[in-house]
Amino acid sequence: MANACKLLALVLFFALVAKGYGQCSVDNLSLGQAKTGQTVNGKPEWKVSVKNPCPCTVMNLKLSCVGFQSASSIDSSVMSKSGDECLLNGGSPLAPMSVFSFNYAWDSSFDLTILSGQPHCS
Ligand SMILES: *[C@@H]1O[C@H](CO)[C@@H](O)[C@H](O)[C@H]1NC(C)=O
Repeated sequence: MANACKLLALVLFFALVAKGYGQCSVDNLSLGQAKTGQTVNGKPEWKVSVKNPCPCTVMNLKLSCVGFQSASSIDSSVMSKSGDECLLNGGSPLAPMSVFSFNYAWDSSFDLTILSGQPHCS
């Protein structure tokens, strides 16, 4: 019985260590916006950069993008809006340790935040 308990404790310990190592969640991703200095169709252009610092791919990445619109066209494979959510990269995985970016044009920047995504860590 005592041995079984020890074994269980050992298994739990290693499970926790394995989970903590190299693990990443959507919270690790960060989003930044900056003016590019260009004007498109009479509106200032903005560049959105989503940084994935994880050694993991992240798929189905969605932003909260309430009221988002753009005077420049954005390819739906890069970013597609559905209601208040915007899907990046057509839901395909973002590469590990990379920055995914796209541009839009509007008078002011929109309040974009990372909503959800599915990290796959190897
Ligand atoms: C992800 O965030 C957690 C919590 O802040 C941190 O412990 C972990 O090191 C981060 N992972 C990477 C790859 O930056």
